[in-house]
Amino acid sequence: MATDEAAEDIPAGVHHFDTADDVPFEISKYWHQRKSIFSRYDDGIWMTDDLWFGVTPEPVAKKIALDIASAPASKRILIDAFAGAGGNTIQFALSGRWNQIFAVEKDATVLACAKHNAEIYGVAKKIVWIHGDVFDVLAKKLKFQLKNAVIFGSPPWGGPTYADYEVFDLDVMEPYSLTALHQAFSKGASHVVLYLPRTSALEQLAQIAQDGEKMRVIHYCMSGSSKALCVYVGGFAIE
Ligand SMILES: C[S@@+](CC[C@H](N)C(=O)[O-])C[C@H]1O[C@@H](n2cnc3c(N)ncnc32)[C@H](O)[C@@H]1O
Repeated sequence: MATDEAAEDIPAGVHHFDTADDVPFEISKYWHQRKSIFSRYDDGIWMTDDLWFGVTPEPVAKKIALDIASAPASKRILIDAFAGAGGNTIQFALSGRWNQIFAVEKDATVLACAKHNAEIYGVAKKIVWIHGDVFDVLAKKLKFQLKNAVIFGSPPWGGPTYADYEVFDLDVMEPYSLTALHQAFSKGASHVVLYLPRTSALEQLAQIAQDGEKMRVIHYCMSGSSKALCVYVGGFAIE
């Protein structure tokens, strides 16, 4: 039996699957990797069915948190623009690098998962949780924080079909293109990191660089293959 059937306070649409028998077929492949997605999955991690496709696996999230920590010391605020299940947010909080972490998520049920998962890792209180559309939140609520912030964004990639393309066209990424994300995020923040499909078109990434800027693109790998890449805009002293 899935734990959600037993627990009364679990929100509708949220699950914690204890045994393979409860897992829907489309998720089964991901559920079998659950311990490399969240090492503490068995402590009661919450997911919606959609979240399995987009969550950043823990070893990757941990390494990204380490790399982003190399932003200039003046950057004391981290904004996780698309919090999802909290895969990245939790690792940013565990890194201890940031004075303030804001995690933004537009789906209230998903936000409940992220908060709950952060509680399991003991860091929920270190994070300011914002329910809303990140584009609005950046333009209004967090407007004055942007100067001292790094924005991290792991946007939706338009579902699992991104894997069907040899080269992924970031101009048609749904629902937000690379250009739209870059324009919105770099309006007030000098340091932006985007988590994108491993097959992203590199020449499109080059288009968002300033003239003469050295831009880093890092592949994050697990089990001998790239899971995704991050593009780092602004100066990071990554080793
Ligand atoms: C790929 S998931 C993020 C996964 C996350 N990094 C993790 O490891 O758990 C993208 C998330 O962005 C949220 N989202 C999409 N558009 C948004 C918006 N405009 N503002 C805030 N959140 C948004 C979706 O609801 C989804 O949960």
